[in-house]
Amino acid sequence: MYSEKVMDHFANPRNVGEIENADGIGEVGNPKCGDIMRMSLRIRGGVIEDVKFRTFGCGAAIATSSIATEMIKGKRIEEALQLTNKAVVEALDGLPPVKVHCSVLAEQAVKAAISDYYRRQGIDPEPIVGKLEEDCHACGLE
Ligand code: FES
Repeated sequence: MYSEKVMDHFANPRNVGEIENADGIGEVGNPKCGDIMRMSLRIRGGVIEDVKFRTFGCGAAIATSSIATEMIKGKRIEEALQLTNKAVVEALDGLPPVKVHCSVLAEQAVKAAISDYYRRQGIDPEPIVGKLEEDCHACGLE
């Protein structure tokens, strides 16, 4: 049911934890399943130098947040904002359809953390990051 990559990231999640004195923190939850993802970023000169996450949720949520941190680490903010849940799913060699919504949570957590970073700079994040979805549409498809 799950790819080897999913199992690997679930069993050995990368970048777990919380960055002290983070420059941006995003926490998103899925109201349907109750899972919560928290991401913290260290940003220097527009580059995501470090990223850590904590996920209280299902295995797919842990695997998607783990790989999402790998995909944005060392990237410029603009590049990190291009991260889509589809790219996360592809990087994991796929997810079962009922688990795709978990990857949406990973994309939203990255965007929420970047939004928080902009807010701390006194910049309105919405024109840059876009509106964060309160609810995940994919969840309604289950
Ligand atoms: Fe909730 Fe996966 S079941 S995020």
